[in-house]
Amino acid sequence: MVTFDLKQHLAARTESVEAVLDRALSGTASRGETARPPRLVAAMRHGALNGGKRLRPILVWETASLFGRSDDGVVRAACALELIHCYSLVHDDLPAMDDDDLRRGQPTVHKAFDEATAILAGDALLTLAFDVIAEDAVHHDAAIRLRLSRDLARAAGVGGMAGGQMLDLESEHRPRTEADIRLLQSMKTGALLRYACRAGALLADAPTADVDRLTRFGEVIGLAFQLADDLLDVEASPEAAGKATGKDADAGKATLVGLWGVEKTRGELARLREEAAALLAPYGDRADILGALAGFIVSRTS
Ligand code: IPE
Ligand code: IPE
Ligand code: MG
Ligand code: MG
Ligand code: MG
Repeated sequence: MVTFDLKQHLAARTESVEAVLDRALSGTASRGETARPPRLVAAMRHGALNGGKRLRPILVWETASLFGRSDDGVVRAACALELIHCYSLVHDDLPAMDDDDLRRGQPTVHKAFDEATAILAGDALLTLAFDVIAEDAVHHDAAIRLRLSRDLARAAGVGGMAGGQMLDLESEHRPRTEADIRLLQSMKTGALLRYACRAGALLADAPTADVDRLTRFGEVIGLAFQLADDLLDVEASPEAAGKATGKDADAGKATLVGLWGVEKTRGELARLREEAAALLAPYGDRADILGALAGFIVSRTS
């Protein structure tokens, strides 16, 4: 019997994703660009090629694979999303935001370079994402590429991640209800994870009912992801997490862990894991990898 090695499979996915990121972040100007300043390229590479889990691009890829598509164009679309995520982390760590010195076990971009360079590196990673998602290889139908680009803009922007970051900052040291926190988390973290699963289904021309089902799956794991992140802040060491922990309470962050405590949060995570599994049930063992990823998200230690 052939046994499937999930770890090895994910390591291979990660390697392919990083190879595409590496090429996109080369020091050579693309056609239509003028020149790429080496210091800005170096800061972007520091922010994007520094050992992230690559969960979002892998979700895009696995979701597309579920519906039979797994070529290089899928990896490119997956990398566009990862570029947005990396930009969001570079800016999230800035002194004016969460003021963090450590990310993925290394100095944050503004520490390794300087604040102005980190702001520009974030801007340039964000913009590069839209260059990558517009590539012909992403989908043969330009209308689908346009839809993926527009959905990505909406997931990342004022009504998605950036909007959620605004709500996160506005909520510091302020009383917030469960509904307030669910909303802010569904935007700051949930929007990109939702996009990952939706985009994968769209890339593979999945039927509408399946696109909707995978979009819901993305919403469920998106909430679970931030709950797990907030638990890590309470329970993990900086060495394990690769970033400072024990900061959210002092910073007055509005989190469900803060509102409910650890036990109730764990209960909600278990419930979300079941909901995620139920959404994948119709696909049987074809969705085993996505199921394993949902399991990893709820129980992760880094
Ligand atoms: C961290 O995301 C930021 C949040 C949205 C909570 P990840 O935990 O996916 O970070 P990397 O990419 O693996 O470093
Ligand atoms: C970050 O949430 C979400 C985004 C970057 C959009 P956090 O501020 O909790 O993430 P960490 O803990 O710094 O990774
Ligand atoms: Mg933050
Ligand atoms: Mg932060
Ligand atoms: Mg956090």
